[in-house]
Amino acid sequence: MSRFYFDHNATTPVAPEVIEAASEALRSGFGNASSIHAEGQNARQLLERARRQIASYIGVSAAEIVFTSGGTESNNLAILGLMRNMHGPGKHVITTAIEHPSVLESCRQLESEGTAVTYLPVGSNGAVVPEEVGRHIRPETVLVSVMHANNETGIVQPVAEIAAFVRQARESGQEIYFHSDGVQSLSKIPVNVITLGVDLYSMSAHKINAPKGIGALYVRKEVPVRGIRLGGRHERERRAGTENVPGAVAFGRAIELASAEPIRYKVAQLCDRFEQRVLDGTRGVQINGAPAFRLPNTSNLYFPDIDGEALVIALDLKGFAVSSGAACSSGSVEPSHVLLAMGRPRQEARQCVRFSLGRYNTEEQVDALADAVAASVRQLHTSNRKRRFEQHA
Ligand SMILES: Cc1ncc(COP(=O)(O)O)c(C=O)c1O
Repeated sequence: MSRFYFDHNATTPVAPEVIEAASEALRSGFGNASSIHAEGQNARQLLERARRQIASYIGVSAAEIVFTSGGTESNNLAILGLMRNMHGPGKHVITTAIEHPSVLESCRQLESEGTAVTYLPVGSNGAVVPEEVGRHIRPETVLVSVMHANNETGIVQPVAEIAAFVRQARESGQEIYFHSDGVQSLSKIPVNVITLGVDLYSMSAHKINAPKGIGALYVRKEVPVRGIRLGGRHERERRAGTENVPGAVAFGRAIELASAEPIRYKVAQLCDRFEQRVLDGTRGVQINGAPAFRLPNTSNLYFPDIDGEALVIALDLKGFAVSSGAACSSGSVEPSHVLLAMGRPRQEARQCVRFSLGRYNTEEQVDALADAVAASVRQLHTSNRKRRFEQHA
């Protein structure tokens, strides 16, 4: 049976070009980038080239990119690495209810250490209201962390508008920084962190056709982030540990690929086509977050009376990989905190499925997926009816 992959917000297949670049780096770039001999210097050159590729893609200088092990570590480093370096009592942080657990847990850790944290709600369209951020900034606020795009719904947050409120506070003399988790937005929509107005921006390679275990954090020059791991003075003292050179090379190559062959237009067309076919073919389906601005590849759909997990399993048996929530929380019976924050009752939040498209999807695959969704929903309705009938018999 052929398999078709529609879970790109969880992770992506590694591009052949990226495998080639990483294999070459594993063979020839094995040196320790801190060593002064030729092998070490070769590794250093590869690492710095990758750093320049990532920096130039998001419009910053190479010295402002810190390599990490992925999005989770980038978010931990941005939040804890900044806050542990900011002194004085009574600090306050603003974030939102729909962040990735790596942001939410970092904030909970800060709370346990005495920092006040405000978790802003979102509207039913999944978007943060910039004015609400502005309204909650107080003299003790030192950090605002709002994700660029949500992993579950694909809703793109008004980051530049929020940055304007942070800038306003800074211009009146306050020491305040703005972090955004860009793990899902990188390459799916254009990203220029200067235009966005953020001070810290998290990225992860495995969401853009590179391997897992490598990511990066943009840290604007003047932002006082200090490493949170103990050890050597790597990455300008911001991340201890021998650098993952093949990983960085892979990330750099994936960025190069994303820049040379952007897929967002193709993917947007495929995603629209898929949604239209599902809406036409199955009664009562709703798009979570519509009509807010969404990532071009993400479709999070509500299927009334259909258990999301059951639909994911039915589709898996037919050869399609999709997801009923964030990959990190799969296996848990808790409904998505993002959908709950958008006002979906618990029961309905369990009746949602996320479809996320990527580089290698085709029109034929999308049509086959839409047909499989319609067929699976029909089957599940039939078995629901049968079960109800048996219960009352
Ligand atoms: C929005 C967001 N932030 C952070 C992460 C964590 O990234 P990583 O898997 O590289 O640790 C993810 C992964 O799903 C994500 O979607």
